[in-house]
Amino acid sequence: MIDKAVVSLMNEQIVKELYSAYLYLGIANYYADEGLSGFENWFYVQAQEEMDHAMLIRRYLIDNNEKVVLGQIETPEQDYQDFSAPLGQSLSHEQFVTSLINNIYAAAQTSKDYRSMQFLDWFVKEQGEEEKNAADLIRKFELFGSDAKGLYMLDQELAARAYAPPSLVL
Ligand code: FEO
Repeated sequence: MIDKAVVSLMNEQIVKELYSAYLYLGIANYYADEGLSGFENWFYVQAQEEMDHAMLIRRYLIDNNEKVVLGQIETPEQDYQDFSAPLGQSLSHEQFVTSLINNIYAAAQTSKDYRSMQFLDWFVKEQGEEEKNAADLIRKFELFGSDAKGLYMLDQELAARAYAPPSLVL
C-alpha cells in the first residue's frame, strides 16, 4: 500500500509530466516554424520522454491498486523573442520538476514508503540528466549559435537525437 499523500502527489506529477510534454511540443513547434528542424527534433524527442515519465507513474499507481485521477493540463507560455529563449525556459522548467520529484521523495521518506522511494530513485537520477542536457544545450548555443554557420552545424547535430524508451522497467 502506498501512502495517501504520496499517491496524491504522484497524481499531480502525472499532470506536470504531461504539461512538460506540452511545453516541449510547443517548443518543437516554434523551432519548426523558424526552420530549425534539428532543434525541432530535439524537443520533439524530449516531449516523447515526458509522455513516458507520465505513463511510468500511471503504471506504478495502477500496479499498486491506486486510482489514477487525471487533472487539467495548463497551456504553456510560449511567446519567444529569440532562438535562445526556449532553452532558458527548458532549464528553469527542469529545475522546477526536480523540486517536485524531491517533494514526492520527501513525502515517501516521511511515511516510510520504501517502495515508492525505490521507484522514485529512477526519477531522481533522470532529473540530473534532464538538467544537464538542458544546460549543455544552452552552453552549445552560447558557443556556436550566434553566427549562421555555427547555428546550422548545431541544428544538424540536434537532428541526430533519437528517441529511446525509458530504461526503467516496472
Ligand atoms: Fe519529466 Fe523533464 O522531467
